[in-house]
Amino acid sequence: MPYYRAVGEIPRKRHVQFRRPDGGLYAEELMGEEGFSSDSSLLYHRHAPTAIMKSEGVQDPVGEAELRPNHPLQPRACRTHDLPLGGDLVLGRQVLYGNDDVRLSFVAADRGSDLYRNSVGDEVVYVQSGSARFESTYGALDVGEGDYVVIPAGTIHRWLPVGGESGTPAGADAGAVAGDGMVRALVIEARGHIRAPKRYLSQYGQFLEHAPYCERDLRAPSEPLVREGGEVPVLVRGRAGLSRLTYLRHPFDVVGWDGCLYPYAFNIRDFEPIVKRTHAPPPVHQTFEGPNFVICSFCPRPLDFHEDAVPIPYNHHNVDSDEMMFYVGGDYSARKGSGIGVGSVSLHPSGFTHGPQPGAVEASIEGVRGGRTETSEMAVMIDTFRPLLLGPAARQCEDPEYAWSWARA
Ligand SMILES: [Fe+2]
Repeated sequence: MPYYRAVGEIPRKRHVQFRRPDGGLYAEELMGEEGFSSDSSLLYHRHAPTAIMKSEGVQDPVGEAELRPNHPLQPRACRTHDLPLGGDLVLGRQVLYGNDDVRLSFVAADRGSDLYRNSVGDEVVYVQSGSARFESTYGALDVGEGDYVVIPAGTIHRWLPVGGESGTPAGADAGAVAGDGMVRALVIEARGHIRAPKRYLSQYGQFLEHAPYCERDLRAPSEPLVREGGEVPVLVRGRAGLSRLTYLRHPFDVVGWDGCLYPYAFNIRDFEPIVKRTHAPPPVHQTFEGPNFVICSFCPRPLDFHEDAVPIPYNHHNVDSDEMMFYVGGDYSARKGSGIGVGSVSLHPSGFTHGPQPGAVEASIEGVRGGRTETSEMAVMIDTFRPLLLGPAARQCEDPEYAWSWARA
């Protein structure tokens, strides 16, 4: 995240004495990536960010989820809306797929999470529906339907679903949210950093004119978030599993920060689709890149407009990738008749050529003849460069007939 921001109070120069009103020094903390050779931010704490009192290993329902190879090889589909509801946005994650690079989970959260820090890599939480307040050492973000929330590794944060009727965040101890406060989300956990694709950026990190989004579309915390309290537990995800560290003082004690590393939100509706007269390939939908995977956004857009265009995808085989698609809105015409709907997930693995369902091509041409000029489809796609293994949630809500749906007349 190369875009410089300054929030709250900071001293005029780095690493100089910066004093609290009571005369004591603020505690400076540098959060930096790649051995401090990449993006970083400087945060100013009221208290030492190093003061921990206790560390305990805790059970890790997410990290310990069993992943099985997709063998015998076949395309898959499942319906996330058939999965159990409830839990929080951290420990309530239900693992769909994963490999050594990335883990993909669905969650339908109805309560606030504990404080949490993922030290393995960045996370992107795509909010399919509902509203939440994201609170962190950098400040808070109000997020809702269609938001990608990008959380740098190491950021201490928590998720508070916002109740539908009261509009108030549920505290970490508040239990279930009243009304329709469920937050459905797809969680993408990387082993490394998730960033805007390099080709969208100038040599120095500014979004270029051909990029489908830019700095103005990104929402970041705009003011400090300070909370009082002592003996505060924080769940920390490390490579060996989940630990609970108890901090002497509340980690939300930052009075100011500046730099290029911070959490931010980007809404899928701010993605400006790139279109051609004939069908454009998936890279035009790319939104983020991570280590050995990409994230793409399929958004409402004009249908391909060459007079003889076939306005839906051709059969394709991305030989180096597994392709997971999460269908989040609109009408996905290429999958008509396959049982796919909003909330479905498909997995089209390397080794299998996929394409429109039977009759979908003809129906799309017919639709254009009848005056249809745009598609309402919305989907989030993750292409991984190493095979995805099947998690318990995908196995639990799988449609066993999907693989054979192209052979049905
Ligand atoms: Fe595809």
